[in-house]
Amino acid sequence: MKISLLFATLIATAVLPAFAEEETELSKKMDSFNDHYKAFRREEDPAKGAAAARESQKLVAETLSMTPAMLAKMAEGPAKESALATYRQMMGEVYVLLCKLEQAYLAKDMTKAAAIYEQLKEVRKAGHDKFVEEE
Ligand code: HEM
Repeated sequence: MKISLLFATLIATAVLPAFAEEETELSKKMDSFNDHYKAFRREEDPAKGAAAARESQKLVAETLSMTPAMLAKMAEGPAKESALATYRQMMGEVYVLLCKLEQAYLAKDMTKAAAIYEQLKEVRKAGHDKFVEEE
């Protein structure tokens, strides 16, 4: 009994990491941005919101030169180039929305900030539907 448990544990330790999602540079940036993104939903302090929007802009700007894991696997050629251009366009849209969000917070216009958050949600969903293998 003990031996089979030990055996099962050894197998699990050896096999499970192979199934774990590999953490890419892009997923690290997305994760850091996500912390700000989640806070936007209930941010009541416009100064904090503006600062978080600025931090998010920096992170999103860095994602522009990265390649989603799904696209990295594609063969070189026009289909890959087109997919990469669409990826950068959508991340660019996220960047523009974050600039608008910062401006809304600076103007202390929380209604506008909430509306921009809704737009971010839509681009996020569209981007992940298109470029994340499974979510
Ligand atoms: C508000 C906007 C967005 C937020 C808050 C967000 C957040 C996240 C989070 C939390 C992850 C998971 C990271 C992990 O696995 O630990 C992720 C992954 C990912 N996101 Fe986003 N995302 C946003 C928009 C987008 C857009 C617009 C695109 C595409 C144009 C995109 C493409 C990806 C890709 C490709 C991954 C997987 C990482 C990889 O392939 O290396 N995301 N995102």
